[in-house]
Amino acid sequence: MSSDQKFFDIYSIVVGGLALFALFILVLAMRMGDITQGEFNKAAPEYQAAVRERIAPVGQVYLPGEEAQAAAPVVEAAAEPEPVAAALTGPQVYNQACLACHGAGIGGAPILGDADAWAARIAQGIDTLNEHAIYGYQGELGYMPAKGGRADLSDEEVADAVAYMVAESQ
Ligand code: HEC
Repeated sequence: MSSDQKFFDIYSIVVGGLALFALFILVLAMRMGDITQGEFNKAAPEYQAAVRERIAPVGQVYLPGEEAQAAAPVVEAAAEPEPVAAALTGPQVYNQACLACHGAGIGGAPILGDADAWAARIAQGIDTLNEHAIYGYQGELGYMPAKGGRADLSDEEVADAVAYMVAESQ
């Protein structure tokens, strides 16, 4: 036997052995895969969902105008504080809203403290005076605007101002 022939024999055996070994590793890897992951049916929706959940991003960015897809955390709204707008007193309302006309008799308004101008008006009764002051009215001397033009005043505040004016004008 020539040394060439001997070389080829050994070479074939080594290559054949390596090929067999590679085949063995391939089969072993498939077998291991079956053993460790065979219980999962990868097409099953539950499996797909579990994978999606595992690889889902931790957070998401929403740009202005985009709607949040995740359920927004429920935040308990803080109790609204009671508004502390204190009602104005009669004299305060008078100075702010009535003085402009009733201080100097502008447009026929009866002047505060003018007992003669007020006597007949007071005789109508406080209810009528309040009504005229709150809702406004057109008299013989001029026009009395509703709440003196201050719609933000409450009826009580205007009534307090009327009581003050009446008390000052008797
Ligand atoms: C723009 C001017 C003007 C303002 C402001 C004004 N008044 Fe008068 N008020 C009048 C005039 C004018 C009369 C008289 C109308 C008439 O009898 O001819 C009048 C009359 C009244 C009378 C008598 C009503 C009656 O029946 O005789 C009362 C009460 C009164 N005003 C209350 C108030 C109060 C309260 C305020 C402020 C919240 C106020 N007025 C603000 C012009 C005004």
